[in-house]
Amino acid sequence: MSKLIAGNWKMNGSLAANQALVEAIATGLAAAGPTKCAVALCAPALYLDQISRQIKALAQQNIAGAAIDLGAQDISVHASGAYTGEVSGAMLKEFGVRYAIVGHSERRQYHGESDAVVSLKAKAALAHGITPIVCVGETLEQREAGKTEEVVKRQLAAVIHDNGHCISEIVVAYEPVWAIGTGKTATPEMAQAVHAVLRAQLKAATAHPERVKILYGGSMNAANAAELLAQGDIDGGLIGGASLKAPDFLKIIAAAQ
Ligand code: 13P
Repeated sequence: MSKLIAGNWKMNGSLAANQALVEAIATGLAAAGPTKCAVALCAPALYLDQISRQIKALAQQNIAGAAIDLGAQDISVHASGAYTGEVSGAMLKEFGVRYAIVGHSERRQYHGESDAVVSLKAKAALAHGITPIVCVGETLEQREAGKTEEVVKRQLAAVIHDNGHCISEIVVAYEPVWAIGTGKTATPEMAQAVHAVLRAQLKAATAHPERVKILYGGSMNAANAAELLAQGDIDGGLIGGASLKAPDFLKIIAAAQ
């Protein structure tokens, strides 16, 4: 299957920095020729409109901006109403958003998002034709206690349980919490082992498991991407820090082709 490389900018960026970053990525992609993998930028919600307009303008100049999809970093479980600070699926869709990250460990950790909430967020995304990128991953403590498999299966099972046959429409991202922003990457073998567990779980849950991409995230960078992406069950990457530097992000995209 073709790979997906998604940048998760987290709470980084500014109008000026985004403009420069998107331009550098789009021109880099254009210079490299037809892109064989999908590329997405998951930006802070406020900037989605800016990026969407810029991508359209670049596409009009025949710069490969059209190959870049937009992603949000979160989505409300609610359709509309008195939910201060929330952004709904319909709003995201109006701005051409294709993906929404749900259940990132930073949201689970700092915003108390439970498996049940993550699952409802995946459902809200699917209801609006937005592909949820469902994040799962164990903490260092859980890994050391031998609970990695149990934790990721429980996190994915919640989403499978609530989303039934739509499960073939999701993207899964395995992000070991101890590898996020720490420079400690899971070895390709460690990541592949967990991806295989998730793949088997998806096979048991849907008639079309081949549609589901399983991304790896956690200190993926220009130097280690090729080895990770060469594993049989790693279908792409969810990139934090390295997605903020165009040359690094472009190298990861090149490694995915
Ligand atoms: P880093 O690539 O900065 O480790 O972040 C990974 C991540 O959390 C992507 O969602």
